[in-house]
Amino acid sequence: MLVALDGPAGAGKSTVARAVAEALGFTYLDTGAMYRCVGLRAAVDPDVDAATLDIRFDGERVLLDGEDVSDTIRTPEAGQVASRIATDPAVREALVTAQRRIIATGDFVAEGRDIGTVVAPDAEVKVWLTASAEERARRREIPVQELTERDERDASRETSPMKPADDAVEVDTTGLAIDEVVARIVGLVGAVR
Ligand code: DC
Repeated sequence: MLVALDGPAGAGKSTVARAVAEALGFTYLDTGAMYRCVGLRAAVDPDVDAATLDIRFDGERVLLDGEDVSDTIRTPEAGQVASRIATDPAVREALVTAQRRIIATGDFVAEGRDIGTVVAPDAEVKVWLTASAEERARRREIPVQELTERDERDASRETSPMKPADDAVEVDTTGLAIDEVVARIVGLVGAVR
């Protein structure tokens, strides 16, 4: 069983995906962390081959070629670099292949931009999580303009742009408590089980 959770930066995907995974006993997959890892390497080696990188999850920690990069990948700069390298079709192909391999191993809640459209179009439950730009910028502690620039880049790239799948359920988290959002998604899973 797969729950695909897509949406723009700051919509609350990580918090919600973790809580939904916990509630259902599923494993959480943060695909944005994988793009952030590639971005970290690309910042020092622009020709890096994403397929050769060893990206692993160990509980809450993210390991890149054995090094704990959990904190380094979370800076706003790392987010911008990730968004830029995510436009590269070769990077996307390598990461989508790795993501499909991971989600085939069990029940997952996978969050990203293209899970319901590209990584797993057959996902049993697809959610498009959103919130107002102001609320998302506040959550990310970045200026609204920086956030909307990233949204635009993510949504306008040629290869698998960020967009809701036709069959995704849209959940606007503006002003909603996390618990309400989680209950709604757990309810969607209950309905297809
Ligand atoms: O969710 P995040 O902020 O950690 O993602 C960082 C960047 O990675 C985001 O701006 C776009 C890219 N990304 C993507 O293109 N596809 C995904 N499935 C996940 C993230």
